[in-house]
Amino acid sequence: FYSEGDSNDYLFKIVLLGDSGVGKSNLLARFARNEFYSNSKSTIGVEFQTQKMEVNGKEIKAQIWDTAGQERFRAVTSAYYRGAVGALVVYDVSRRQTFDSVGRWLDELHTHCDMNVIIILVGNKSDLKDAREVSATDGKSLAETRSLFFMETSALDSSNVKAAFQTIIKEIY
Ligand code: GTP
Ligand code: MG
Repeated sequence: FYSEGDSNDYLFKIVLLGDSGVGKSNLLARFARNEFYSNSKSTIGVEFQTQKMEVNGKEIKAQIWDTAGQERFRAVTSAYYRGAVGALVVYDVSRRQTFDSVGRWLDELHTHCDMNVIIILVGNKSDLKDAREVSATDGKSLAETRSLFFMETSALDSSNVKAAFQTIIKEIY
């Protein structure tokens, strides 16, 4: 999905998915505003940010949607996914359980989205070196099995945050 305002103007919808607390909102805050909140509250409902970027000399606008990982705070599911062309499925490298949930998030995504949606698996909180419960090898191998892009990120120290969003946007474009 993209809407063409004028020929140089593309808008892509990208959704963030993953268990509560994995850092979806902070990845978006880091990417869109270069901000980080060390004790952010769970998202309630839906928020989105539109971020401009340049790909191959053209201006692209990514509209990035963020909702709660927790069922009771989530937005109407079908509306959240509608028209999405890209997705970041996020887990927390310091909490194995969030990695074990990835399969469920992928199932939900595929129930609501076109099979062609571009997906990147994101292992966030790579800065928490001593608390790591999921190795990069495990992340990579799951991504390979499910044919996803893969990156480890840290919203805290900024590593790979831009790269993760750019991977999606470049591939869509
Ligand atoms: P829900 O909205 O409940 O689904 O959670 P969320 O996935 O949006 O998580 P959120 O961005 O609110 O982050 C949860 C907690 O993890 C916050 O206390 C953040 O400060 C922290 N956090 C997020 N990203 C990182 C990171 O890269 N490293 C570290 N150390 N902490 C992080
Ligand atoms: Mg959130």
